[in-house]
Amino acid sequence: MLKRTAFVGGDSGSWSVLSVRPVVGQSLDHVSHVDVRPTADLASRGADVWVLEGQASNLRYATRDELTTLRSKQEPLGRPHARRAAMIPIKKTAAWWEMAQDERRAIFEETSQHTAIGLKYLPAIARQLYHCRDLGQPFDFVTWFEYAADDAGAFEDLVASLRATREWQFVEREVDIRLERQP
Ligand code: HEM
Repeated sequence: MLKRTAFVGGDSGSWSVLSVRPVVGQSLDHVSHVDVRPTADLASRGADVWVLEGQASNLRYATRDELTTLRSKQEPLGRPHARRAAMIPIKKTAAWWEMAQDERRAIFEETSQHTAIGLKYLPAIARQLYHCRDLGQPFDFVTWFEYAADDAGAFEDLVASLRATREWQFVEREVDIRLERQP
């Protein structure tokens, strides 16, 4: 079985919270820290405010060419200089999930150019997508990004570009959490 990852909001953890901002729909409660850990280790935790779980998975939409380009440009999480992170849980509408795979792909890439836009920000931004729709979670995805403080402005441009796309018209809940790695 694929390993699940837990995102734990509370008063301790390896990331300190700079901001919690609802973009669409209900926010998450403000916390001072987020910890990211394998779900199996959850039992050792005390008083957490919220816990979201997700699972890294196979790609759904990327073509061979896109995959090759992504792999040639992307960098892993955990780079020491990447002291900032964004955690953005997202839920899409029933209308999105009722579409066929090819219809979703057409909106995701041919219309909205999600990958083409995102690729312009690699390798400065490192990313990982976690799926949670099938885990009975309140969100469909937890998205996680890491970057240097100097690239924070570029990251703002990236999220603004994506939020202006047709794909984002199918987003019904989105919370934008910005973080700084603990020393
Ligand atoms: C850093 C540059 C980015 C790149 C290169 C990128 C690339 C991708 C790719 C290739 C996928 C499709 C994976 C698949 O084939 O299943 C994807 C999915 C996704 N990305 Fe991005 N992305 C970037 C930034 C972002 C940002 C900033 C957000 C949120 C604000 C975001 C939210 C998502 C979501 C929610 C999905 C899942 C979509 C779905 O399956 O319906 N991405 N991204």
